[in-house]
Amino acid sequence: MLRILVLHGPNLNLLGIREQAVYGARTFEYLNQVLEEWAKSEGIHVETRQSNHEGELVTWVQEARDRFHGLVINPAAYTHSSVAIRDAIVGVGLPTIEVHLSNIYRRESFRRRSFIASVAIGQIAGFGVNSYLLGLRALVDHLTLMRSERSDSSERMGKDVERS
Ligand code: DQA
Repeated sequence: MLRILVLHGPNLNLLGIREQAVYGARTFEYLNQVLEEWAKSEGIHVETRQSNHEGELVTWVQEARDRFHGLVINPAAYTHSSVAIRDAIVGVGLPTIEVHLSNIYRRESFRRRSFIASVAIGQIAGFGVNSYLLGLRALVDHLTLMRSERSDSSERMGKDVERS
């Protein structure tokens, strides 16, 4: 079974309260419930965690190395500042998708820079709760493709060994 860790950065626990015009009225609990339901319907293990602390997010990325196949992360404000989260993602080498509820390119200029985007497989922004679902879908497809490529190449290697 595929195991995916979903990390939410600072202030995302305030969804439904904070800046509703930007982030919508849906609560954080609603968001996680949608993700859990999606995971159940797809037969995938999805674990969600939120922290307001950069170091805690770094530790969770590090610990995910042996426990998860991939990571969906909304680093929130740390997107625009955290070399530490970026380094942790590179360090563990877990396939990662960056997601944002809002379209960070339509907002203040400081939000246009992401420290995470260039170490992620890709970034999805601007679709609200759906950004997470699109991110999960993209990650599952990526992981499935990687698995099938790996089994194809080991099959090929097996045939080469048989021939030699
Ligand atoms: C956010 C965008 C960030 O710029 C902001 O700091 C957030 C949320 C988003 O999901 O749109 O907290 O990551």
